Amino acid sequence: MTVFLGDAIDYCAFPNECVEGVEEVSDIKLYGNHEACVLGMIDEEYFTDTAKQSLKWTKKTLCSSSIKTISSWELTNKNLYGSWETVFSHSSYSSPDSWEYIFGQKEAKKEFEKTSKESPGLVFIGHTHSPAVYLLDSSGCHSVPCTKSQLEIDLKPGLRYIVNVGSSGQPRDGIYMPSYAVLDTEKNSVFLGRFDYDAETASKEILNRGLPKNLALRILTGT
Ligand SMILES: [Fe+2]
Repeated sequence: MTVFLGDAIDYCAFPNECVEGVEEVSDIKLYGNHEACVLGMIDEEYFTDTAKQSLKWTKKTLCSSSIKTISSWELTNKNLYGSWETVFSHSSYSSPDSWEYIFGQKEAKKEFEKTSKESPGLVFIGHTHSPAVYLLDSSGCHSVPCTKSQLEIDLKPGLRYIVNVGSSGQPRDGIYMPSYAVLDTEKNSVFLGRFDYDAETASKEILNRGLPKNLALRILTGT
């Protein structure tokens, strides 16, 4: 089963194709803040100047069937996978439609505090564009270093986890390769991985569309 955690559009030269691709390969689809803006749920003022320029182009470029498709995506999704009650959310799980960022251990600690002990043991998020893992045990909230391009974490029953899968469209952790996460319910583990792609062509296509230059540059360096 494949889960998409939101923000398929607004960073790239092919928004319609991205929406179509997500729809084709994903069983669960969430909308992120960029889809929410296109759907009129949040104001453009929330975004940076670069994102505002990109949003203007994306809104003009998206066809009606893409709009219809993203309007069918969910804000969050909750289910049981193996022994893990699991939640998927683009941003914070405690307040998914306020689009709060969980940038580090401080925000993760607050997120654990805001959600009760009965809350799901496993939460998958994105939004910051950087892979990260936080866990809560009896001694408090801990951050698991995610500096390597691949990482496998054994999930321990009774602990709670927030897994940020990073970004497939615009990584910002210094590695240009798209990131993803795999939950293995038999091994009780989460694998964070990367894959290679033709970032140079993707970058050139962004420039060809007249989109902001820094969108084209940052995907080459993952910054
Ligand atoms: Fe986002």
